[in-house]
Amino acid sequence: MIYLGCDHGGFALKEAIRAHLQKQGVAFTDCGNTVYDSGDNFPDFVEPVVQGVRADQANRGILICGTGIGVSIAANHHQGIRAALAHNVDYARLARQHNNANVLCLGGRFIDQAVALTMVDIFLKTAFDTNPKYLRRMQAACKE
Ligand code: RB5
Repeated sequence: MIYLGCDHGGFALKEAIRAHLQKQGVAFTDCGNTVYDSGDNFPDFVEPVVQGVRADQANRGILICGTGIGVSIAANHHQGIRAALAHNVDYARLARQHNNANVLCLGGRFIDQAVALTMVDIFLKTAFDTNPKYLRRMQAACKE
């Protein structure tokens, strides 16, 4: 299951990602915001995404705020969450291959929509590299 979350800074891009996943028949849960509200606060939408991702190792999250920075800070406070702030397709691929990221964070005010949709596709289809050095590094990074 893919969990989506955004504040007003990420709302337009979240809606585009939502439509993109729907078109592909990918199962997702929209954790909001479901309307544009300039007074909303990104941590409120990080929480349900994090809970969803933590429920099953195969689950993924996509969090979007204006820069992607706030949501990545908030998400990475949680055990079992490896949230990666990504700016292009290579970041999205390497976040999976080298970091086993389970949450993709995007800056809705800074990323081209078409690029962001490609990043989502790549993030969802790329596996963690089996080379043990990446597992060792991530275990150390996450203090597991
Ligand atoms: C909201 O204006 C903005 O601060 C938020 O979307 C995000 O960029 C925070 O990191």
